Amino acid sequence: MAMALRALIIEDDVADAELVIRELGRERELTVEIAATAAATREALARGRWDLILADWSIPGFGALEVLAIVRELGLDTPVIIVSGSITEDVAVSAMRAGARDFVRKDRLSRLVPAIERELHEAEARSARRRAEREVRDSAECYRQLFESSPLPMWVYDTDTLGFLAVNDAALRRYGYTRDEFLARALTDLRPAEDHVRLRENVAERDDGLRIWRHLTKSGETLAVEITAHDLAFEGRRARLVLANDVTQRQRLEDQLRQSQKMEAVGRLAGGIAHDFNNILSVILSYGETLLEVLEPGELRDDIEQIRSAGQRGAALTRQLLMFNRQQLVEPRVLQLNDVLADMTRMLQRLLRADIELAVRAAPDLGSIHADQGTIEQVVMNLVVNAGDAMPAGGKLTVTTANVVLDRGYAADHPGVTPGRYVMLEVRDTGTGMDDATLARIFEPFFTTKERGRGTGLGLSVVFGIVQQCQGHIWVDSEPGGGTAFKIYLPRVDAIAADQPQPRRAATLYGSETVLLVEDDAQVREVALAILRRHGYAVIAACDGDEAVRSCEAHSHPIHLLLTDMVMPGITGHELAERLLRIRPGMKVLCMSGYSDAGGAGSGAAIARLQKPFTAESLATSVRHVLDGGSTPGPQR
Ligand SMILES: Nc1ncnc2c1ncn2[C@@H]1O[C@H](COP(=O)(O)OP(=O)(O)OP(=O)(O)O)[C@@H](O)[C@H]1O
Ligand SMILES: [Mg+2]
Repeated sequence: MAMALRALIIEDDVADAELVIRELGRERELTVEIAATAAATREALARGRWDLILADWSIPGFGALEVLAIVRELGLDTPVIIVSGSITEDVAVSAMRAGARDFVRKDRLSRLVPAIERELHEAEARSARRRAEREVRDSAECYRQLFESSPLPMWVYDTDTLGFLAVNDAALRRYGYTRDEFLARALTDLRPAEDHVRLRENVAERDDGLRIWRHLTKSGETLAVEITAHDLAFEGRRARLVLANDVTQRQRLEDQLRQSQKMEAVGRLAGGIAHDFNNILSVILSYGETLLEVLEPGELRDDIEQIRSAGQRGAALTRQLLMFNRQQLVEPRVLQLNDVLADMTRMLQRLLRADIELAVRAAPDLGSIHADQGTIEQVVMNLVVNAGDAMPAGGKLTVTTANVVLDRGYAADHPGVTPGRYVMLEVRDTGTGMDDATLARIFEPFFTTKERGRGTGLGLSVVFGIVQQCQGHIWVDSEPGGGTAFKIYLPRVDAIAADQPQPRRAATLYGSETVLLVEDDAQVREVALAILRRHGYAVIAACDGDEAVRSCEAHSHPIHLLLTDMVMPGITGHELAERLLRIRPGMKVLCMSGYSDAGGAGSGAAIARLQKPFTAESLATSVRHVLDGGSTPGPQR
């Protein structure tokens, strides 16, 4: 049995209405209402859903045409069938024009049911079609929104013309174009010219693998972009959908991380080598000096001078290597960078050829830094010499200082940078500049592009080490042909730069005190022993911590000084000093090392240090200085 039919009957004659109802009721269950005025019709239509309206053609004051008008006005698609006593052709035409679905004469009511069935069937088909259309529209809209609101830049391009066919908001934002501008362009406009050949090959091969490309924004910024692409038909054309993931920032951070890991590994290697060389050079230099003291002027003496000067060159080199590895002994104090520069300017001017113009722009209210003056001078020197070398045909060299604040945003882009207040030193030249391959390696020890004999490639590695040691940060801007700017940021300190007294120089190098010498390298021990004896000291030598402790306990006379290597198997110089000081509290301590921080700050008191490689003079000076009550390291060379 079919569902109950909801029919609204517009009729003023109750008998006629009943006839109609009876006819309908033969076949189907009915829900019926009768209305005879415009107001009642409106009210009934507003109240519920009707499957069908049966309207008498003419009721006094109301009629089927008005019913049709009301149905149209309410935006309903309920079928209206006209029931009428007699129908002329004119009436039929005007009723059908007004939207009636059919006509049934009152004397032929038997036609009513088939007409209704057909009408209901058609109405059902109409609404099914409308539903389907709406679903298509909705789902198209849904996908359009997915495309539009995707946070990843996306576009569709024509694979024949490479012109863009569609683009989403994220792409417009990232690439800086308006929609019209973007759609007027082609894929080639996003790529640097040198990539165009590869781009066409890539499109032709339908290569849709994940890879990284360079893209240009409207303002000319270069992006690193990971592309995922997929072929499709779009508006009847062969096209490709592209998803562009901007990995510029990620790549930059990865590059910087790789760079800092590389520098750390190279630094460890350099530090290790320098440590061993220091011991070897101590031996060479000390024996050289001993021989020079005893030999008369003559041929042999010149040869030994040569050995010594080669040894000194080696010592200078290992010192630089240690500086790169942040292990050089330094004496940081509060400094004014502008003062350091002012002291150096004349020297720098002499260093540079006449065709290079040097300008120093010092910020008047520059903050102070905490650093070792000598190492900062070395930074300036190395950068200025490099800048001079980069301007073979002359040019302009500008050294600038400034107070700068590196904020969180900057720190996020530059791994290892702590946000805060810094003093900046910039050395800018108008020279040859560098390509990316050179830039990637400049801080490596021994990397140089200069001809043999002109550069060792240590300059910038030393700068790097010093800046790291100061907890600073270095940044380079350079382009082939566009000059170079090195920017060095050193943490700003609030203390006022104060002139601190230089360590007092010992008046004599000789003494007669007892020294306990602890050194695991036999040759170094021998040489130190010889030097100390020559300077009048009584020496107890030990090859490690255990022997030192035994000797200390066995010796019944005072021991005035413990001279110990800092880095030994089993025990550090600091630990040994702590142990021995418990037995002999008055004893002075002097540690030998090429490292500035080896052994850590274990013992509370500052322990005097002697830098390796030592010479006879530096050893004797430091020993005398410590015995006379100085705790900071004496002159070191
Ligand atoms: N201002 C600059 N302009 C162009 N290239 C530079 C500049 N500074 C450094 N470089 C490049 O970096 C390389 C390494 O510099 P670095 O100072 O470490 O060594 P070097 O100058 O070659 O040798 P050294 O400093 O030991 O005498 C140089 O060889 C050069 O290629
Ligand atoms: Mg250099």
